[in-house]
Amino acid sequence: MNNKDFSRKDFLRTAGSVSLFAALGIGFYGCSSSTDATGTPPPTIPDNDDAITITGGGNTITIDLSSNSVANLREQGGWLLITAANTLIVNVDGDMFRSFTSVCTHQGCSTNWQFNNELFECTCHGSRFDTSGSVVRGPANANLAEFTVSVEGDTVTINK
Ligand code: FES
Repeated sequence: MNNKDFSRKDFLRTAGSVSLFAALGIGFYGCSSSTDATGTPPPTIPDNDDAITITGGGNTITIDLSSNSVANLREQGGWLLITAANTLIVNVDGDMFRSFTSVCTHQGCSTNWQFNNELFECTCHGSRFDTSGSVVRGPANANLAEFTVSVEGDTVTINK
């Protein structure tokens, strides 16, 4: 692990703060919150959890699915916003995961995400993306960049 690696503690601290802000509807990067968001905010990850490890300067993310704190990710439609690595991950069909940048292609909001009815919504201005990262509603007009996901047992690895 080098100096650029995020520590688990740093990630968890960030994730907890973002989840709180998301729950309160507080926006970042000068964006205003959408009024028609219908999805659910990211799940809260406890401060004492070690389910997620971020290494390689944020380019490799490992998730331990056996941890109760990420239990929702085991089910179809389960998802996470990993703020420390600007990454979204979703369980598409119960077995397959897909992962994308959380930096919205409209104006760069990265933390105001919700997910519902198989759609990600950036609540800064309401852009929606399907589970392949494709835009289905603007104002964004470019798809989300996708990352490689591999699964081995209970370990999910995302590589940017
Ligand atoms: S930054 Fe505008 S919709 Fe995401």
